[in-house]
Amino acid sequence: MRIAIFASGTGSNAEAIIQAQRNGQLQAEIALVVTDNPQAKVIERVQPYNIPVQIFEPKEYENKDAFEHAIIDVLRQYDITFIVLAGYMRLVGPALLEWYEGNMVNIHPSLLPSFPGLHAIEQAYNANVKITGVTIHYVDAGMDTGPIIAQEAVRIEETDTIETLTEKIQKVEHKLYPKTIEHIVNQTKGLDGDE
Ligand code: GRF
Repeated sequence: MRIAIFASGTGSNAEAIIQAQRNGQLQAEIALVVTDNPQAKVIERVQPYNIPVQIFEPKEYENKDAFEHAIIDVLRQYDITFIVLAGYMRLVGPALLEWYEGNMVNIHPSLLPSFPGLHAIEQAYNANVKITGVTIHYVDAGMDTGPIIAQEAVRIEETDTIETLTEKIQKVEHKLYPKTIEHIVNQTKGLDGDE
């Protein structure tokens, strides 16, 4: 399996996945990082790992289809077989889905189907729910709607602020995402995915 990680922002999940691969917890090749944002922190964050980074700015393309086809051309050059969205702030369109549906996963900071879309942590906090969490799911054409692969709950305590809750959720994300990708890799190899 040759993985491309797509990220638009700080890239803490991207780095957690790369570190898991480097320390042997994840047996897959992380061949490429793709970003749609030339200012994204993820670019410098992954620099020490010597993984190629490709930047695609949507405004340089006529439309979403042209943008995604440019990405697909590069994914094919790198023989990418699996896409990991890690804070990729864009709805995936038909072109990428045609090539990668079933081989593309996303992480979302809530227990889907609750609180899809932007600002999921704030949404849960402001709704005064007592439990939120993290979901990893296959990507389909909807917003955070694809088949769920893994979830982990995070309790919202009385003393939590949005900041402390965000920290708790990110801590869970950084463990659950590499672990879940490793399970998928093992299933793909036809091995037993259990720990
Ligand atoms: C994560 O909270 C993830 O769940 C959401 O976007 C955030 C990305 O954070 N999809 P980072 O860029 O990995 O630090």
